[in-house]
Amino acid sequence: MSDSHFARQLQREVRQRRTFGIISHPDAGKTTLTEKFLLFGGAIQQAGAVKAKKATRHARSDWMKVEQDRGISVTSSVMKFEYGDCELNLLDTPGHQDFSEDTYRVLTAVDSALMVIDSVKGVESQTEKLMQVCRMRSIPIMTFINKLDRDGREPLELLDEIEDKLGIQAVPMTWPIGMGKRFQGVYDLINGELRFFETAENKGARPREATVVKDLESEELDRLLGETAANELREDVELLSGAGYPFDHEAYLAGKQTPVFFGSAVNNFGVQELLDNFVRLAPAPKAREAETRMVAPEEPEFSGVVFKIQANMDPDHRDRIAFMRICSGKFERGMRVRHHRLKKNMQLGNAIIFMARDRAGAEEAWPGDIVGLPNHGTLKIGDTLTSKEELKFLGIPNFAPEFFQRVILKNPLKSKQLEKGLAQLAEEGAIQFFRPITGREFILGAIGALQFDITAGRLKTEYGVEATYEPVQIYAVRWVESENKKQLQEVRKKYHNSLVEDAQGAPALFFPTRWRLEKAEEDWPEVRFTHVKEH
Ligand code: G4P
Repeated sequence: MSDSHFARQLQREVRQRRTFGIISHPDAGKTTLTEKFLLFGGAIQQAGAVKAKKATRHARSDWMKVEQDRGISVTSSVMKFEYGDCELNLLDTPGHQDFSEDTYRVLTAVDSALMVIDSVKGVESQTEKLMQVCRMRSIPIMTFINKLDRDGREPLELLDEIEDKLGIQAVPMTWPIGMGKRFQGVYDLINGELRFFETAENKGARPREATVVKDLESEELDRLLGETAANELREDVELLSGAGYPFDHEAYLAGKQTPVFFGSAVNNFGVQELLDNFVRLAPAPKAREAETRMVAPEEPEFSGVVFKIQANMDPDHRDRIAFMRICSGKFERGMRVRHHRLKKNMQLGNAIIFMARDRAGAEEAWPGDIVGLPNHGTLKIGDTLTSKEELKFLGIPNFAPEFFQRVILKNPLKSKQLEKGLAQLAEEGAIQFFRPITGREFILGAIGALQFDITAGRLKTEYGVEATYEPVQIYAVRWVESENKKQLQEVRKKYHNSLVEDAQGAPALFFPTRWRLEKAEEDWPEVRFTHVKEH
């Protein structure tokens, strides 16, 4: 293939890709919406298949169960499907009790996010947390307000709440026609069309096209809605056009504005409108920052970064799948690449691509695509692979854990194994640990409480170490950094007893209360007490 032909193909492949994650609080409808996307994209014929996973979710704290579930969720943690001319890569951001570092890390591998909000409950806690990560990285966010078939909160109130709680301008792109049992469709505020939905008898199948009314003033609207409701809608729309911000694509791409769509995923209402606008507005793969320079996806040389490791469910083999996002150039089966951390070459022979229903050997893949690389521990989070240039991608951070436990070893003679096991689990991102500089104990830190169970289970089965936990009084951990070496030294001295080192030996401090943390921040203005550590 000539260079210019390849360059054109690469450009086209990049333009067609949308790599994104869905962020939401449990039960807002992420699974339902995902299924409907697959249905509209033609990847599945009947919704209801993904649901099987849900039935098992209540028994999650049982370690074996988790292992089994993880086997299933390997296939669903990345899903590739087509919609129109686009290739979509949907990355799962595990919620519920599974909430962990992974959930955050996945957001470092997406180009945009879709936020699902329950119209009855509004903005909930997990959405707020995930949103903070999106804001940090200026990830563009599109919003879907779901469950309009229920009597939820007023649309305007929900938009206000998004602005207040999440600090982002919310711009409605559609407006619901009615709500609850009377939810009939949406008014498209961009092109002025009204789209009426019909409740399909089979909600799992692809619905019929919506009935479209082209003009808000048309008599057909009065006929369809009744005169009173039609006039109410006209008034709403007039009000809206005077208030709020106009949609600004640049502001969306900069993560400052979120376009909002209304619908009901379970009834297929508003899903197509969302998808059509998503592929139209959401960004294609972007340039990514490496230590030395920005790397554009259209560059012909291949590069990729590992953002997630998942232990395979087969305990006899202990192999792991590293999820790599392709950042530039073309991936080809069997290609030889440079592993920069280990300073050696490796062959990517058996990469996997994850489709909606199954996985297949990856013959080729392009920027924005995610491939799974089975390995026995050679690949770690943050590793960069390239076709030749020495590169190291940035931006796979560690987030300060929010739950803490002290590890108690049942058999003190096993401390070497414990150390080894924890070091490996920490590298994989399964758990974080800290060691007081004054002692030899391990304090584990997690973002989701289930991580402790998983760690105890894996220590036992994979390293033969039986460990239990003991509560500790820690409100927060913060990494400490400063250019002012004197202040840093003073901080280390003053908080000597709370000083710890993380798995990589970076200094951090434990704070027993929020007040103590705030006081430290006040007393040492030139020291950064950060809750994010970039690798
Ligand atoms: P999640 O992945 O975000 O946790 O949410 P999921 O899709 O599993 O949906 C959570 C519940 O909300 C499910 O009900 C689902 O059917 C329901 N749901 C999703 N979208 C809508 C919607 O547009 N309208 C209404 N009214 N409900 C919706 P469930 O009772 O937990 O399960 P199921 O028995 O209905 O499957």
